[in-house]
Amino acid sequence: MSLVGIVPAGGSGERLGAQRPKAFVVLAGRAMLEWSAEVLGRVCDRVVVAVPEGYADEPGRVAGGRSRSESVRNAVNAAPEADVYVVHDAARPLLTEELVRRCVDALGAGVDGAIAAAPVTDTIKHTDGQGRVVSTLERSALWAVQTPQVFRADALRRALDADTATLAGATDDASLVEAAGGRVHVVDARIENFKVTTPLDLRMAEAVLAERC
Ligand code: CTP
Ligand code: MG
Repeated sequence: MSLVGIVPAGGSGERLGAQRPKAFVVLAGRAMLEWSAEVLGRVCDRVVVAVPEGYADEPGRVAGGRSRSESVRNAVNAAPEADVYVVHDAARPLLTEELVRRCVDALGAGVDGAIAAAPVTDTIKHTDGQGRVVSTLERSALWAVQTPQVFRADALRRALDADTATLAGATDDASLVEAAGGRVHVVDARIENFKVTTPLDLRMAEAVLAERC
């Protein structure tokens, strides 16, 4: 069985506001994307990284797309041999091998996708868009979804066979698989696998990595 790691790293990192694309910002001594690519490489047969224009001139890299899902699709297309894809955002550098393995193991019979997620700790309210609360959601059923997201290759390929607008509207891969009728399960992950979005997140990631090393 061929396991291929897919790392969407093609974003610009607008909210981080660094001098270079977020995945290439140096974090605890190396480019952010290298932290998770290395961990994936320990579990997968190979890893394909989707990078911004101008960064793809290295083996194992492909040009990213205009949206995250287009970047994933470009990387998936570059690895047609896969039976299983392990998709993991470069923006989550605190990935552990243990979490990757638990997600891969959760891909049992009849399951198309297994995705890392943490139970929500804040109370979540639905508003009308003008700040007025419409309802309070039942927290015990809510999960904050992360990556890795592991999929049967045929289910992910089918899900990514969507128009540009649908791909651009998706904030994760599992939602596309769900929309295509796939069965997706959550895998309980730690909030330590958080996403680096803002400068504060970068400082927190530095602190966690310093503690680990
Ligand atoms: N990503 C990608 N291709 C894109 C957009 C995003 O591969 N066209 C990747 C990012 O590199 C990141 C992951 O998808 O690893 C999650 O996206 P996000 O955290 O939003 O990163 P950016 O889009 O880079 O950040 P921002 O939205 O602040 O610009
Ligand atoms: Mg983005």
